Amino acid sequence: MNNYAHLIADAASKIKQGKYFTAFTGAGISVESGIPSFRGKEGLWSRYDPKFVEIDYFRAHPGECWTVLAKIFYEQVLSARPNPAHEVLARWESRGLLKAIVTQNIDNLHYIAGNQKVIEYHGTTRTLECLLCKSIKLATQSVLRELPPKCQCGGIMKPSFVFFGEEIPADAAHAAVQEALVSDVMLVIGTTGTVMPANMIPLYASRSGAFIIEINPEPGEFTHSIVDLYLPLKASEALLHLEQAINQSAG
Ligand code: APR
Repeated sequence: MNNYAHLIADAASKIKQGKYFTAFTGAGISVESGIPSFRGKEGLWSRYDPKFVEIDYFRAHPGECWTVLAKIFYEQVLSARPNPAHEVLARWESRGLLKAIVTQNIDNLHYIAGNQKVIEYHGTTRTLECLLCKSIKLATQSVLRELPPKCQCGGIMKPSFVFFGEEIPADAAHAAVQEALVSDVMLVIGTTGTVMPANMIPLYASRSGAFIIEINPEPGEFTHSIVDLYLPLKASEALLHLEQAINQSAG
């Protein structure tokens, strides 16, 4: 860690000097909560076919998809808890330092940690919506007892997260771009930066002049293109050291 102390100190002072500090998060921030990422050697897509979260395949095979969806996104996610990385971001929001989070994650861990201003770019596992009448209900254990979950109208319920082949919710897309355009410091945490159009958000921030800090043990699409300061660390370790550096230089 001590060979990154100077990088932590530089990042801490950039965050403190910032007028509008935001975060953009990916699956990597939840890995230390026990939720596997999508890519990489242990990634979900190396174990499951992404077709199960492809909208046309889901409409044609809801039962088969739900068997996999329940396993991947509900058994584990419903029991996962925020890790220290989520908790630092929640403390930074409550002290007015962090203005917003744009997350690609659907695991609700930013909300559970206490962040209010969270733009869920890919939706959420928190609720289900009916393919027929569009009604929405909470994704509780009881609702998930019978798969595929059915609506009172008889329609099949789908998780409220964005499947491949679906549009990004317009309100989330708009809000995320607005945050990117006003950010002067953006912390990009735990993402390969490979998925469009989510990966445009840090790009918009960078093009609007924001200083981009990345936390990721592995370099990704952003690292050698838009990142101004790269911390090759795991999310919890980096965020706890950043918080310590910011608190020490408080004043
Ligand atoms: N701390 C920080 N980053 C980590 C950690 C950790 N402890 N462990 C892994 N990572 C990094 C990996 O190095 C990788 O860069 O997290 C990243 C995870 O990348 P992906 O699995 O591609 O996740 P993400 O970038 O969020 O994927 C974007 O793809 O399948 C879609 O909708 C899905 O939202 C997801 C989108």
